[in-house]
Amino acid sequence: MTIARGRGRTTVPSSPEDAGTTEDEPAAGAAATPTRADPARIGEQIARIGRIGADPGGGVSRLAFTREEREAHELVGGWLRELALEVRVDAIGNTIATYGGAGDARPAIGVGSHLDSVYHGGKFDGIVGVVGAVELVRLLIEDETRLAHPLRVVIFAGEEGARFGEPCIGSKAAAGDLADRDLTRIRDADGVSLAEALRSLGMEPGAVPGAAWRPADWAAFLELHIEQARTLEAEGTPVGLVDIVSGSTRLRLVLSGRADHSGGTPMAIRKDALVAASEVVLAAEAIAHDARNRGARLTVGRLDVHPNSITTIPGLVSLTVDIRDVDSDRQRQLAVEVVRRARAFAERRKVGVTAEVIADTSPVVLPIWIRGLTSGVCAELGYAYKVMTSGAGHDAQVINGVTPAGIVFVPSRGGLSHVPEEWTSASDIARGVEVLRRSVLRLDTLLGSLETLPTAEGG
Ligand code: CO
Repeated sequence: MTIARGRGRTTVPSSPEDAGTTEDEPAAGAAATPTRADPARIGEQIARIGRIGADPGGGVSRLAFTREEREAHELVGGWLRELALEVRVDAIGNTIATYGGAGDARPAIGVGSHLDSVYHGGKFDGIVGVVGAVELVRLLIEDETRLAHPLRVVIFAGEEGARFGEPCIGSKAAAGDLADRDLTRIRDADGVSLAEALRSLGMEPGAVPGAAWRPADWAAFLELHIEQARTLEAEGTPVGLVDIVSGSTRLRLVLSGRADHSGGTPMAIRKDALVAASEVVLAAEAIAHDARNRGARLTVGRLDVHPNSITTIPGLVSLTVDIRDVDSDRQRQLAVEVVRRARAFAERRKVGVTAEVIADTSPVVLPIWIRGLTSGVCAELGYAYKVMTSGAGHDAQVINGVTPAGIVFVPSRGGLSHVPEEWTSASDIARGVEVLRRSVLRLDTLLGSLETLPTAEGG
């Protein structure tokens, strides 16, 4: 059997809904279809997972590759087993459960997200996509839906970069993007390597290459996730469909001036590294505000000042600049621009400057035909939707390297995320599950029709 997928994705016709651009595309006409998904059940499951790693302050600290993360995987794995799914855990700790399929070698449709959190994070980031996938399976079982393709619920391990600095570790292993050397290179703030963390959880780092997916085994992947921004809420739109996930270039700049007495040193002869750094902070903001760079986001999130004393002129300042853009060329050009301006400020103030790229990932354009399919589903349901970019990274963008992926957003209250106040209503999540369910059904049919087409070689 030859299957048109992956490299053959351009053979899939995009739907009429997709002929437009990335602007708002309100769904046509009729009143919204009620969801089959059960908001009460969804809410209870989110609350149940939220108790694992709960902070006294109301947030959740369920970090990557910890006992708490494993406990959450075991809890949800148990729910999936109760639904009679075959559940396994791969070598990096991703939990994978399979529902149905005709039993032959047809590629799977994947759905899922992650269960780890940042320090003092919320109960919804990642969780919504996992609970949504479980709810989807429940509905398929209730409806006695038979799929031609296996449906796989995937709970990725270690999505958040909060502990190890490296995000999407589980999905990178699945995409074959995690090299042996990464297992020892990637370390947390206490110096614990990823390999050591895996061993402490009873996993064998040497087996990690076995977690890589074979592209031929997969047909498509869908991730339901909270928006983590305020666009959907502000516009009253229940669903976001992601077209591009921003890339990110991260710079570390070190400005070296001269530490000196704050009272004794005349202003004219100072070499104040913090004043130069402040100019860089303002320049980064100005670059992002420049109308030519609309959409780019520049952030100086870290500033380390030495000696950090009230009565000493700052001699040395290290700062980071995070440059995010959906345009990969502009992303790198703006990084060059930041460094060029930093050099100019430094020269004028007679301080030294060094610049280093500490991370660099390209934007990911998600396949148009998947978005065409999900937007068609929204139109059918009568749900307004917005095609939008994602400033945050997600497992699905990594998985898109193995199999075509789509991301469906539901609104975040106040746009808040990575904080205890993070919240999405269960009814909004239920709508997202409905989009997921119908998209899986459409994918199952669409892929089935493609599999019966003759191939270029064969036909
Ligand atoms: Co997430």
